[in-house]
Amino acid sequence: MALADDLNLATGLGSPAPAAPESPGDRHGHFATPAAAQSNILDPGFNLTLRPMRYPQFFEMYKDAIKNTWTVEEIDFSDDLTDLDRKLMPAEKHMISRLVAFFATGDSIVANNLVLNLYEHINSPEARMYLSRQLYEEALHVQFYLNLLDNYIPDADERAEAFAAIENIPAIRAKAEFCFKWMGDVPDGQLQTPEDRKRFLMNLICFATCIEGLFFFAAFAYVYFLRSKGLLNGLAAGTNWVFRDESMHMNFALEVINTVRAEEPELFDADLGERITAMVEEAVDAEFQFAEDLLGEGVPGMSTADTRLYLEFVADQRLAQLGLPKRYGSSNPFAFMELQDVQELSNFFERTVSAYQVGVEGDVAFDEEF
Ligand SMILES: [Fe+2]
Ligand SMILES: [Fe+2]
Repeated sequence: MALADDLNLATGLGSPAPAAPESPGDRHGHFATPAAAQSNILDPGFNLTLRPMRYPQFFEMYKDAIKNTWTVEEIDFSDDLTDLDRKLMPAEKHMISRLVAFFATGDSIVANNLVLNLYEHINSPEARMYLSRQLYEEALHVQFYLNLLDNYIPDADERAEAFAAIENIPAIRAKAEFCFKWMGDVPDGQLQTPEDRKRFLMNLICFATCIEGLFFFAAFAYVYFLRSKGLLNGLAAGTNWVFRDESMHMNFALEVINTVRAEEPELFDADLGERITAMVEEAVDAEFQFAEDLLGEGVPGMSTADTRLYLEFVADQRLAQLGLPKRYGSSNPFAFMELQDVQELSNFFERTVSAYQVGVEGDVAFDEEF
């Protein structure tokens, strides 16, 4: 509906008179159907009923997310600047420059999709509470990477170039185009037909498993590889927080997908499985193109062949989380990523007990594979 029509509805001015609401609980402020009459989470509308709570698991996830509260100001980049100046080899510097260039826009793209697609179509007020919190976390990530780039790249021209990477660096542009393609593939208006809902599911699955769950997890692997060599501890410290956030974003999306699967199992047919597998393959190829650029100058200890295996291993994990067969059968070549999960968990609780009294009781959801 055009903006002018929206304004007419809001003010009661103009003509013609508005037709009946498009559906219960539309975006013009008509009331949502009461919870009891709401049959499925993807049924169009803006349900407002929190009691009785239809999907308490999303409210629990919202509360868990708040336990992982951090600020950008507490991340100290001073050691990183020494490392960049004195310890990093040229090939490692190239790796970092590509990595920060990807970080410059990645989380903004995710935030945009959250607002433009996820918030509208996931019709549960408790799930929308989680999405509100996720939106804040994405803004925090954007702020973190902004601060990182400002610290790492003091020269104004070089900094502008890093922020323009999405236009200038083909491998980063290719990843962004992948994101935009799926961001733009959700039908306009309400999700009425099974095909509409499948297209929305493809968007949700793309952002959770291909973008947050693969593009970002690959980026984390580069950061933790450098940390395993004792380099860039400031970046690694901030990444620990982002890693937990992203794991939770992915778990939330997987829970939404499982909810839809329980409510509308007919959507999860062989056709959807094939479409998901093809999309995941496309994501692995895009990320591998980025890896070839990022590792192109030869980083000792991290080969493009191993990175390909790592991407395939992660992609298989994501397919398995979606209940689909593995596509690659590769194992994880990066031991430092296997350690990540255990180390993360203990660090988190130690630090949280001493520094963050925001109600941690040992029940935060993690991606158990990492
Ligand atoms: Fe993020
Ligand atoms: Fe995220």
